[in-house]
Amino acid sequence: MTDPKRYLITSALPYANGPKHIGHLAGAYLPADTYVRYLRAQQKDVVYVCGSDEHGAAITIQAMKENTTPREIVDKYHAMLKSNMADLGISFDIYHRTSAPIHHETAQEFFTMLNDKGDLEIKETEQYFDEEANTFLADRYIVGTCPVCSNPNAYGDQCERCGTSLSPEQLINPYSTLSGKPPIKKSTTHWYLPLDKHEAFLRQWILEDHKEDWKANVLGQCKSWLDMGLQPRAVTRDLDWGIAVPVTGAEGKVLYVWFDAPIGYISATKQWAIDNEKDWKPYWYNDDTKLVHFIGKDNIVFHSIIFPVMLKLHGNILPDNVPSNEFMNLEGDKMSTSRGWSIEMDDYINDFVKPENGGEQMVDALRYYLTAIAPETKDSEFTWKGFQDAVNSELVAVFGNFVNRTFVLMHKLCGGKVPVFHNEIMDEKDKQLLQDITDTKNSIERLIEGYKFRDALYEVIDLARKGNRYMQEKEPWIVAKTVTDAGQPTPEAQARIDNCLHICLQLTANLAIFIHPFLPFAAKKMCYMMKVVDKMLDWENAGKVKLLSVGYSLRAPELLFRKIEDAEVTAQIEKLKLKSQKIKMEGTTTGNGQPTTDNGQQAKAKETVIKETIQFDDFAKIDLKVGTILAAEKVDKADKLLKLEVDLGFEKRTIVSGIALHFSPEEIVGKQVTVVINLAPRKMRGIESNGMILMAEDANGKLQFVNPDVAVENGSGVS
Ligand code: 2FM
Ligand code: ZN
Repeated sequence: MTDPKRYLITSALPYANGPKHIGHLAGAYLPADTYVRYLRAQQKDVVYVCGSDEHGAAITIQAMKENTTPREIVDKYHAMLKSNMADLGISFDIYHRTSAPIHHETAQEFFTMLNDKGDLEIKETEQYFDEEANTFLADRYIVGTCPVCSNPNAYGDQCERCGTSLSPEQLINPYSTLSGKPPIKKSTTHWYLPLDKHEAFLRQWILEDHKEDWKANVLGQCKSWLDMGLQPRAVTRDLDWGIAVPVTGAEGKVLYVWFDAPIGYISATKQWAIDNEKDWKPYWYNDDTKLVHFIGKDNIVFHSIIFPVMLKLHGNILPDNVPSNEFMNLEGDKMSTSRGWSIEMDDYINDFVKPENGGEQMVDALRYYLTAIAPETKDSEFTWKGFQDAVNSELVAVFGNFVNRTFVLMHKLCGGKVPVFHNEIMDEKDKQLLQDITDTKNSIERLIEGYKFRDALYEVIDLARKGNRYMQEKEPWIVAKTVTDAGQPTPEAQARIDNCLHICLQLTANLAIFIHPFLPFAAKKMCYMMKVVDKMLDWENAGKVKLLSVGYSLRAPELLFRKIEDAEVTAQIEKLKLKSQKIKMEGTTTGNGQPTTDNGQQAKAKETVIKETIQFDDFAKIDLKVGTILAAEKVDKADKLLKLEVDLGFEKRTIVSGIALHFSPEEIVGKQVTVVINLAPRKMRGIESNGMILMAEDANGKLQFVNPDVAVENGSGVS
């Protein structure tokens, strides 16, 4: 869309069911924030909305896991997400929440309008039902094998491994996450959005009208959905947490979370308008609004097929673009909070963003690396070493170094003031660098407007690199050695020094403008050093080379970025490994007492993880002994745990083990087991566990004891 009158920018509403990791940040928040900051710098009318997605099974299941209520879960994680995003410089105009009354009203009004117009179909169908839990199973309440990638833990609405959107019927070997049992079918009534009726419109709108400007990954997913043939999609659920279906007789039914969540963009805009005494309607009804949804790839179908159909039926504008990122992996594996293989935003903030660790500099450092490796066209990979390299050798050694050198030399050789520019001795190198500034401005504009943030950021660093090269070639510190009898640089030498530093300072001002959408804190610090107001960062100043007035005195340089030490990298990698190991152990040996989604059907397809080599002394610290299980019983309110009494020969011990989904208490009494006997005691469900039983996982995900071939004496050592 050329020259829109206003912009409405959205980032996917994160579920308020737990901390979010930096892959989420890189996918839907950071690029949107960069885009919005760029638009604001151009004085555009732009509103950036987001908020917590507080409904659906994601929330209720987490409440079960934490043994609390959905309300407490959303309150807790909404607060965390809101503060994390603010700490990382994500500059929403509003961070709303879908539990707000204004959202409930907006979503109900939306549903009612579509229902009254006859745009929805009501159907009675057979749905999966858990007889034991006496409840229908939708979305995350049902798990099975993904028909696309064979992930054995795919949810009823989506496979988190391959990102495919699913319906429960598509799952192979489905089972309930509540009881772990296969479900039965039972009939129930629901409202459906007949996507099939809108296929022709979607084909035209996506595959023709947007074939040039939407990203290939988005077009590709849409095309494959359209080619498979669209089906009517249920927009209501039998659940007790969510927005009530506003129809008499629909008691006990709520709107499907994916129906209400995107409407959250509208209710957030409404709340923003109320808070700021603005009119929200032009943002959602006027054709001259440019609506852009920033999302991760698992959200593509909802934002480019389902929500647009809803918007069209409701009379709203459609998104102009849906820039979606692929996934960011971490140290050779998929990022996953549940497996502990992730860097949570909250953890990064705690480890790096405290003032004593670098504060805002470290926000910019993360923003830098995440943008530099953004998964814009394919999955990318975060490594701590890569983070260190990017920060140390690009941000510090190129960008920070250029700014620092410029300031230091300006203080040393030009009296701390912006030196005069001597046109008469301007040479080709000067002209080239000035031209580079203009070219970079044009490239950044083209790239940001095309959602290519990674390339745009590269342009900024490359310009700083050119600045360093220019400085290196001009060598003002050498020129300064050509001195008069009084020991001062000769007038000719001073003129050359002046020109070099004049250009470097104007370049610094431009670098501040260019880096500002990406690294806002560094840009502001540069303004402080240049003694200019933040208004200088307005994009209309980009490319100008008279931003700093001759004779203007500037402050001393300050450190823009700090280096990342090797020890920090090692510590983070260690922390990551420990976290994931701990979660793994809790999954197999301790459990949290709540139903899990693996239920013994854990992926065989998992990659083999080979831990780093250890020395014999490390291994020798582990005391392994053979024991016999004397007694076993279930632990109250903990589906996965068994309390065992184990005879170790020299003593009897209580050990709590997360094997209840794999063995009944009766079948294991009398078995010999291998026990880690010197593991620090841990309390689980109030019972102190004094050791850990070693288990192996067979090809079907079932646990098997690791024990001697033939019976040995209890207390025998294992080495
Ligand atoms: O995938 C998710 O995390 C969803 N909560 C995204 C919702 S985006 C929008 F529709 F609200
Ligand atoms: Zn899959």
